[in-house]
Amino acid sequence: MQTLSTTSLQVRDNQLWILDQQALPQQKTWCVTPDVGTLVSHIKALRVRGAPLIGLSASLLLALLAEGGMPRNQLAESLEVLRAARPTAVNLMNNLDRMKLALTQENFVTALTFEALRLVEEDKTLCDSIAEAGSALVKPGSRLLTHCNTGGLATAGVGTALGVIVRAHQQGKVSHVWVDETRPLLQGGRLTAWELGERCVPYRLICDSMAASLMGQKQVDAIWVGADRIAANGDVANKIGTYSLAVLAHYHRIPFYVAAPHTTLDVHCPNGAAIPIEERDAREVTGVAGSFGDVQWAPENASVFNPAFDVTPAALIAGWILDTGVVTPAQVEAGIFQPSSANG
Ligand code: MRU
Repeated sequence: MQTLSTTSLQVRDNQLWILDQQALPQQKTWCVTPDVGTLVSHIKALRVRGAPLIGLSASLLLALLAEGGMPRNQLAESLEVLRAARPTAVNLMNNLDRMKLALTQENFVTALTFEALRLVEEDKTLCDSIAEAGSALVKPGSRLLTHCNTGGLATAGVGTALGVIVRAHQQGKVSHVWVDETRPLLQGGRLTAWELGERCVPYRLICDSMAASLMGQKQVDAIWVGADRIAANGDVANKIGTYSLAVLAHYHRIPFYVAAPHTTLDVHCPNGAAIPIEERDAREVTGVAGSFGDVQWAPENASVFNPAFDVTPAALIAGWILDTGVVTPAQVEAGIFQPSSANG
């Protein structure tokens, strides 16, 4: 396969390399990912993360395995193993459905490579379109709040919600960004802070629990988040803590926007209650681990509940910014995301 390079994925020497997002920002470590088992463990450990990026990495690996001579039946099995690696983000399933179709072609090796590379190129274009549509909603002088990481690290392009923020900053409309640290794995504190710094966008890092008082003091003009899955009724699954921000935004009358490519839309999922929510290891809550070290603060055997995502009801969302444009609450209520009329 041709050489390929995005912020956090590379193909070189016919191998997939991923930037270890658990080691960032202290270390910039590229890990070779030669087989399905390795990629699944990278995905589970969040070394590869972000809904679009997970789907792209799985597609590229399948194509590389095909080029390396893996037979069709084994590729089909590998595809299903990858599909199960993260249950909430639907981009993985959507991308793999396209790869599955390519696998049925007579010349499946060429077809898989073509499809994987096309998915990467498409993702860049989708991000640009989202940034364009979303930045038009940002008012001059805005103080924006964001959660988790939805930038170039999580996609092949400029990102989704963070792409909007960066584009609006380039247009001179962003005063500064409030970055939620995003417990428990600190994707905001580690990754969004790093990305905004790299792009010279002014930001201030806050603990998740500080958002309410900032909103109460009228220091937040709009909230921008990404999505792991958008149901047909407009409910949105995203990183845990998103729902609380939406409730707070509603109380304080602050617009709450969701930015995502159409590949995040699941028209066959009727509502948020039907979205599978991944539950993760207790150790993410009882302590913290990273390139900075490994600490545990909770008592040994503390009982823990650790859902990785939550669901924000459509009623709390001011706009869904897709690559196809801005979708309003009235359009969602009228059924724009329903299977019969959805563009996804
Ligand atoms: O667990 P993560 O870090 O993969 O969670 C990421 C998010 O919740 C993002 O908001 C979402 O995947 C969109 S990334 C463009």
